Amino acid sequence: MQNEIQFLLNEDVVKINNIDPNTTVLKYLRDLKNLRGTKEGCASGDCGACTAVTVEIVKGRLVYRSINTCIMFLYSLHGKQLITVEHLKKNNKLHPVQRSMIDHNGSQCGFCTPGFIMSMFSMFKNREQTSKKNIDRYLTGNLCRCTGYKPINLATKNMYSYGKSDHFYKNEKNILNKLKSINRQNIKIKYFNKEFFIPSNLIDLKENIKQYNNCKFISGGTDIALEVTKRRKDFESIIYLGNNKDLKYIKIVDKNIVIGAATPINDTLNILKKYYPSIAEMYFRFGSLQIRNVATIGGNISNASPIGDSAPALISLDSSLIIEGNKTRTVKLKNFFLSYKKTLLKNNEFIKEIIIPIDKKSIFKCYKISKRFDDDISSVFMAINLKLYNNLINKIAITYGGMAATPKSAPNTEKFLKRKTFSYKNIILAKQYLERDFKPLTDMRASKNYRKIISQNLLEKFYLELTNNKKITVN
Ligand SMILES: Cc1cc2nc3c(=O)[nH]c(=O)nc-3n(C[C@H](O)[C@H](O)[C@H](O)COP(=O)(O)OP(=O)(O)OC[C@H]3O[C@@H](n4cnc5c(N)ncnc54)[C@H](O)[C@@H]3O)c2cc1C
Ligand code: FES
Ligand code: FES
Repeated sequence: MQNEIQFLLNEDVVKINNIDPNTTVLKYLRDLKNLRGTKEGCASGDCGACTAVTVEIVKGRLVYRSINTCIMFLYSLHGKQLITVEHLKKNNKLHPVQRSMIDHNGSQCGFCTPGFIMSMFSMFKNREQTSKKNIDRYLTGNLCRCTGYKPINLATKNMYSYGKSDHFYKNEKNILNKLKSINRQNIKIKYFNKEFFIPSNLIDLKENIKQYNNCKFISGGTDIALEVTKRRKDFESIIYLGNNKDLKYIKIVDKNIVIGAATPINDTLNILKKYYPSIAEMYFRFGSLQIRNVATIGGNISNASPIGDSAPALISLDSSLIIEGNKTRTVKLKNFFLSYKKTLLKNNEFIKEIIIPIDKKSIFKCYKISKRFDDDISSVFMAINLKLYNNLINKIAITYGGMAATPKSAPNTEKFLKRKTFSYKNIILAKQYLERDFKPLTDMRASKNYRKIISQNLLEKFYLELTNNKKITVN
């Protein structure tokens, strides 16, 4: 067991263990390293001013991910390289993305600029094409209040015209070797009465867990870090799951998609897209790229928010969870939520795996309704899984988020529709049953009346989209 973490800060090897485990990467950079190019705007993952880039070895090559340093815990950098905006310029020469930003007048007050530059840099390093879709995907997590997005988008579109290579390419071998030389053993850091534990595998995680009375699991940290930055909480025992090789995978096993709970959402999208394109499409609107680069489905489910996006979709698909702790148990996701933010998880239990059955004959769609298209939390979410037999509804599972204290199915509506003809008339009749299933509340995201109407209209939208074989959008 090691007692320090090790990572590369730009190109320098850093070893630390004498910093409070609740410290964020942003605080470390600005207050302890005096690297103040990385800005603090919102401290909640929303504005992107704090964006930096982490680099990890995946399948033998370096993968660059933009991240929000304001909501990443410092010790979760173990084994990675962290690139900050200060490191882009080399020998007095600006990086191609910086040159492009200047030439396209992409910066006015400059507060958001380092964050945009780092998002553009991660796109550059991943050699992404500068299509509109890709530019939107890389930049939705960055807000600018004065320049406007047109010059910034143009700067991104034309960034490769300033050169396709940079000093990072020349140094890749060196970085690969430095990262490979970092020890991947378990790490436990004690800091006064606080502890940060990074188990590298499942067995060691399960063995050590017994020592804790009440530990806090962290996967991506995109929910939990806000407790520290916004609510001023201070955790005593943190167990970081994001480096655990036995919790990070996505594979197909016996007609199921099986996902390790600590796999970043971004790493699940290629496979999800193949089997359930509607989920993948929804996940492209989940937070921003910075969020999806670290946030996990395990964290999203465990957080048990009634407006979390994964649960309604996965409940409709009849998914299950493997839960580990003293014992291993399998539970249906539909039974996992007990009441508002309460789940079946006992003290020191964690989700190991999410199992999503593949049924090629079922028709699955999910809809996220939020005030803003990208990087916003749902007001209402609906997922439907339908199986027809000669146009009769053989099987139907309808689940909503944002309509109750937990993600919840619509049993009265399902019962009404089951074994009925899949017709417009029956769908319209089914709308009134939703009123028996849900008594939504008014809150900052939507009024109860809005929720009632939207939930009903989503049912109709589903029918119309399916029967007309086209997407229906409302401007
Ligand atoms: C800017 C921003 C945008 C967001 N957008 C969305 C959005 O569009 N849709 C949405 O649904 N959510 C959104 N979120 C919320 C958050 O990103 C998600 O809930 C995310 O999936 C949480 O995953 P995580 O790995 O970061 O969880 P963490 O923050 O690491 O953990 C969340 C909770 O789950 C527990 N936990 C984590 N992993 C496990 C495990 N394996 N077993 C047991 N307990 C565990 C933690 O102890 C904690 O209580 C957003 C958050 C931010 C900051
Ligand atoms: S400071 Fe706004 S996203 Fe981090
Ligand atoms: S340049 Fe001022 S906020 Fe973007």
